Amino acid sequence: MKELMQSLRESAVQAILNADDAEKLENLRVRYLGKKGELTAILRQMGKLSAEERPVMGQLANQLRAELETAIEKRRAELSRVMMQKKLEQETIDVTLPAKDMRLGHKHPMYSVLDQIKDIFIGMGFEIVDGPEVELADYNFTKLNIDEGHPSREWTDTFYFTEDSRILLRTQTSPMQVHAMETKSLPIRMIAPGRVYRKDEVDATHSPMFHQIEGMVIDKGVTMADLKATLNLVVEKIYGEGTVTRFRPHHFPFTEPSCELDIQCHKCGGKGCPTCKGEGWIEVLGAGMVHPKVLSGCGIDPDVYSGWAFGMGLERLAMGEYKITDLRLIFENDVRFLEQF
Ligand code: PHE
Repeated sequence: MKELMQSLRESAVQAILNADDAEKLENLRVRYLGKKGELTAILRQMGKLSAEERPVMGQLANQLRAELETAIEKRRAELSRVMMQKKLEQETIDVTLPAKDMRLGHKHPMYSVLDQIKDIFIGMGFEIVDGPEVELADYNFTKLNIDEGHPSREWTDTFYFTEDSRILLRTQTSPMQVHAMETKSLPIRMIAPGRVYRKDEVDATHSPMFHQIEGMVIDKGVTMADLKATLNLVVEKIYGEGTVTRFRPHHFPFTEPSCELDIQCHKCGGKGCPTCKGEGWIEVLGAGMVHPKVLSGCGIDPDVYSGWAFGMGLERLAMGEYKITDLRLIFENDVRFLEQF
């Protein structure tokens, strides 16, 4: 029996040293030390031994088991070290290779202007609100005192979704006046920037999609003087102190009285030049006192409350600020163009 164990030791140690992966090693463990393994098979014959020999052989068997277990463990550690080494060699990276060129994005000039305007109004306590571009004709027109039959409701001017002219792409941000009055508690001070859509052919000054900023104040005792003072202040912040403005009478169905605000051309000082197309003045926005009919339609008593509103085109503003001569450049998103600003 002693000889059997000796030969098992020799062949097992050799086999363990030769095992070249973890799976083979595990198979060896089962083969030699497992319940149906070779060592167990030897021990089964213990019964044939004398009472004196039995403990001696038992001790030898335990030693052998411990020895083989240690050998297997040692080999397992060796193998995993070798595997790790191999893996590291396979996965080496060349740190001297040049890095991939990372291109950082660039803020769009129109959004720079928008951020500037938001800052100005936030500084005056206005709230910035957002609303739907797909709108009901009710909000885009009717509640703004633009009745059926008004030319701006024509299919040739407006993108409708339904035959009954009920759902459309908003043609102006003015429906945001109605949304604000219907949902907010008074007083209201808000601006609402966003996209608007009209059936216009694309050229240097037109696009079927462009951006407007709506602004509105509703409170007790608000007058045209507030409108003028506030907008003059905004103009000075955008175009510089001392910019001369002109409030020119105009008509909008949802404001009464209505006006357009022009600034004196900052390029020629009002003499007339290519920037102002010889006019001396540049139109900036439309505005007016919110029509009593619009107020009462939104559940606000026009005898108690009054307000003013304005709407301005964002692209036009950005084009003026950055001396951009073609509207299409704003939407083409050619980085070579955008990176100049
Ligand atoms: N919505 C008008 C337009 O698109 C502008 C405007 C807004 C005028 C608010 C008066 C008050 O031309």
